[in-house]
Amino acid sequence: MHILGLCGSLRTGSLNRRLLEAAHRVLPNEASLELSEHVAALPLFDEDLEVEPLPEAVQRFQAAIRDTDAILVASPEYNGSLTGPLKNALDWASRPGGDAVLGGKPLAVVGASPSRFGAAWAQAETRRTADRIGARVVPLELPVAGAAEAFTASGDLRDPELADRLQRLVTALVDLARGRTELERLAMEGDAVEVGAAPPSVAA
Ligand SMILES: Cc1cc2nc3c(=O)[nH]c(=O)nc-3n(C[C@H](O)[C@H](O)[C@H](O)COP(=O)(O)O)c2cc1C
Repeated sequence: MHILGLCGSLRTGSLNRRLLEAAHRVLPNEASLELSEHVAALPLFDEDLEVEPLPEAVQRFQAAIRDTDAILVASPEYNGSLTGPLKNALDWASRPGGDAVLGGKPLAVVGASPSRFGAAWAQAETRRTADRIGARVVPLELPVAGAAEAFTASGDLRDPELADRLQRLVTALVDLARGRTELERLAMEGDAVEVGAAPPSVAA
């Protein structure tokens, strides 16, 4: 299972990027996380750019969203909300109009901040925006407060309770994605079971 990691911070040494790396290490075995470089490459959203061919960076980003099984977002809080680059990426992921590439995608959100609130508002805003676009959003949060001191030298979360919450959050994301993948596989193989249909008979 492939998870695309989107970071709302573009800076070198981002604490939120570190949080995505910590998430990578606690994923269930069958899942892998790829840190996306798309967010920084996207042009500012502009409906005038929505003509064929779309800008290459947008094509690459939308294909990456379409092709992934799930998305994990980590965003700092800028002035009480998600960051501009992340909102821009979500706006591109909300297109094409009426058929958003983000539609139906399992998505979870975490966040880190040096403050004592752990980017909780940014996470809430990100979940709300993703939900509005039609993603299937994991209803959990992971506010990593005091983030400058929150990681060990090897990059894990220092607080065992937070580390446990991170593991539970990514497991919930993988479970959500696994359900979808399973249903799609059954549908593709023509094995989808009609709800209420009689169970197949078992030979004695
Ligand atoms: C423009 C700006 C606005 C910020 N606003 C907030 C804020 O509202 N709440 C908060 O907890 N931290 C705020 N911060 C501090 C960031 O959380 C901090 O810089 C954080 O380390 C950025 O995340 P990063 O390490 O992943 O780049 C702000 C930082 C900047 C540059």
